[in-house]
Amino acid sequence: MLKSLIRKLAATFDVALVDVQKNYGQDGMFTAHYPRFHSDPRFQPAYKRGIKASLGIDPKFEWRVHVALWSALKALSVSGDFVECGVNAGFISSAIMNYLDWNSRERGFYLVDTFAGPILDQYSPQEITNGRLKIAEAALSARAYVTDLERVQANFSEWKNAHVIQGAVPGILSSLIISKVAFLHIDMNCAAPESAALEFLWPRLSPGAFVLLDDYAYDGHECQAQALDEVAQRLGAVILTLPTGQGLIVK
Ligand SMILES: C[S@@+](CC[C@H](N)C(=O)[O-])C[C@H]1O[C@@H](n2cnc3c(N)ncnc32)[C@H](O)[C@@H]1O
Repeated sequence: MLKSLIRKLAATFDVALVDVQKNYGQDGMFTAHYPRFHSDPRFQPAYKRGIKASLGIDPKFEWRVHVALWSALKALSVSGDFVECGVNAGFISSAIMNYLDWNSRERGFYLVDTFAGPILDQYSPQEITNGRLKIAEAALSARAYVTDLERVQANFSEWKNAHVIQGAVPGILSSLIISKVAFLHIDMNCAAPESAALEFLWPRLSPGAFVLLDDYAYDGHECQAQALDEVAQRLGAVILTLPTGQGLIVK
């Protein structure tokens, strides 16, 4: 009786009922909708190339990678280079380069990271209170951040115009010789460098360029979201909140 009433209400409002057997759940996202990207023949090879970059580790974040691949593909219709701030082993950027057949493209992909993990004194008092510093310290001592620059360079060596840049954001950004950016991926898990990267690179982003904010709505990353919101408001940018936890701006 109750079940049939719920079904009738759901049908009236066109709301999908949650069927735990059938639903998609991964990476903090649960949905009754279909991962249509599974039928894209280029998705799995790209995802597998990401796993290879990560030395066989699968973080199980397919839908996030799908969003990154889609925005990178769309960014090909915009002029400029691609930039990632926060590369680590290069999962997402390797997946993108595989997906876009990077050697057939005449663009640079700038891959910026300390390759020594996060900069601990960049965390704000609020981030420290929220436990972000402790999480970073634990990740550093568990060697979760890649520090082997040669390994990263070897990973990207199959692609031309892949520039691995070691340095700290925001300071390193002014040394990059990039006049136009079509795609920017920000993924440093810390509010100060993320908001500074958005602010610094904004004037270089071509009209229609894509900015993907990896942790924008992700649980535990509220300080990043707040800092990015403040910068976006100043710049007149509007962030789309995605159920994957990412944020997306189209300039
Ligand atoms: C979550 S990981 C990036 C993951 C990567 N995008 C992927 O696809 O797997 C965060 C990275 O940001 C880097 N990072 C943090 N703060 C940074 C800063 N201020 N400048 C440069 N890199 C930074 C860390 O070294 C780490 O490798």
